[in-house]
Amino acid sequence: MSNDASSSAPVFNRKNPLNARIARRELLTKGCDEKETWHFEIDLQGSGLEYLPGDSLAVFPHNDPALVEDVLGALHISGDEAVTDPNGVEMPIRKALTESCAITAPDKKFLNKLVEKAGDAAQDIAQLLDPDHKDALNHFLWGREIVDCLLQFPTLSWEPQEFIDILKKLNVRLYSIASSLAAKPNEVHLTVALVQYESHGRLRKGVCSSWLAQRTDEGTEVPCFISPGKAFRLPEPEEDVPVIMIGPGTGIAPFRAFLQHRKATQAKGKAWLFFGEIHADSCYFYGDEWDQYLEDGTLDRVTTAWSRDQAEKIYVQHKITEHGADIWNWLQQGAYVYVCGDAERMAPDVDKALHDAIAKYGNLGDEGAAEYVEQMRKDKRYRRDVY
Ligand SMILES: Cc1cc2nc3c(=O)[nH]c(=O)nc-3n(C[C@H](O)[C@H](O)[C@H](O)COP(=O)(O)OP(=O)(O)OC[C@H]3O[C@@H](n4cnc5c(N)ncnc54)[C@H](O)[C@@H]3O)c2cc1C
Ligand SMILES: NC(=O)c1ccc[n+]([C@@H]2O[C@H](COP(=O)([O-])OP(=O)(O)OC[C@H]3O[C@@H](n4cnc5c(N)ncnc54)[C@H](OP(=O)(O)O)[C@@H]3O)[C@@H](O)[C@H]2O)c1
Repeated sequence: MSNDASSSAPVFNRKNPLNARIARRELLTKGCDEKETWHFEIDLQGSGLEYLPGDSLAVFPHNDPALVEDVLGALHISGDEAVTDPNGVEMPIRKALTESCAITAPDKKFLNKLVEKAGDAAQDIAQLLDPDHKDALNHFLWGREIVDCLLQFPTLSWEPQEFIDILKKLNVRLYSIASSLAAKPNEVHLTVALVQYESHGRLRKGVCSSWLAQRTDEGTEVPCFISPGKAFRLPEPEEDVPVIMIGPGTGIAPFRAFLQHRKATQAKGKAWLFFGEIHADSCYFYGDEWDQYLEDGTLDRVTTAWSRDQAEKIYVQHKITEHGADIWNWLQQGAYVYVCGDAERMAPDVDKALHDAIAKYGNLGDEGAAEYVEQMRKDKRYRRDVY
């Protein structure tokens, strides 16, 4: 398949998603009580949906019914009241809150309406809406949901449609595709970490990750479409270009797609995978597959970093530092470097470790290393997909 979209393929997009069924779901973190990450296999049979390694799947989730009931309770309504949802479709408000509206994070439109309705009682919130108080507003919003704001003003009376009209549409979430059509012609695989945390005395759940992890089953329909990852492609033409893939946590997903594709297309270049998670025994996602790939030559090296198997943290960037000489050697052979996963902490730390290894083993100093990495970026040999 080329990088161009096939003209005869059906077009699935935000307005016309494919309703594809989950064929298989498997917990990847069996025996671990500190996190929950799931593998999904979604059936594409007969759909004509096509994708490339590096693409993501955009998924339309459903809200948690328990949260919907809490919101209905806070609004003092039954849930059967008819409303027009943000897509212009008439339905009971319970269904609109479950399937069409964003009901977790409050935004300015919602807060403005709250202030308008609550008047003096919402003076504190009114002040936060002043453009000069942006930091204070963000502080207020951190970990706070719409239901908390409703419960703060329990005597307010809401018309069902009035409430729906201030909510945004429930948006898609993107998941890096963890399979290749070259190996799995009628499937799309995902690796999804459940987002779950406590704030203001309530257990919160990420909308889409909790829907997929906790409220779907084999057979559940997932409305979805492809979000192309044009900047996160394998080298083209591949020939014998070496690849270094750094993907801790769910960052592993696109590299499973890359490796399936490279095996199916018999790519000749060397491949080195860096993976990090919390425990070796319960969180080595797809470890059996990597062992197999090491045996059949699809992978040349796998380097792991287990962060909670010892007193001090060991992360992928520590392994990059440890293997800096070999990384420099691979770079000299034209290796492409790919990074996927957490944007906030991991990606900058990995970036620094790469710079340091290049400065040290390339004898380039800090400035020279920065120039070298910049050139890699320009040559599209340093590609990141971080979130
Ligand atoms: C290109 C791309 C690829 C991606 N690939 C993957 C993938 O392969 N696998 C994967 O699992 N995810 C992936 N993601 C992330 C994914 O899209 C979702 O963002 C993630 O699943 C969370 O969505 P959610 O609906 O479950 O949570 P949401 O309902 O969107 O909630 C998440 C929000 O909750 C808040 N929050 C989170 N933790 C806390 C806390 N401790 N305290 C207070 N507030 C908090 C933050 O505001 C955060 O933005 C990818 C993202 C992008 C952009
Ligand atoms: N906003 C947040 O606070 C927060 C926190 C975690 C994850 N996330 C997001 O949650 C989603 C799923 O995360 P995930 O399950 O894929 O994995 P993850 O939480 O990123 O964890 C994967 C591995 O990376 C380690 N790690 C933590 N900090 C790191 C760093 N600075 N450099 C390198 N490795 C580091 C973790 O160790 P330890 O956990 O033992 O430190 C763990 O072993 C992602 O979207 C991620 O961005 C957000």
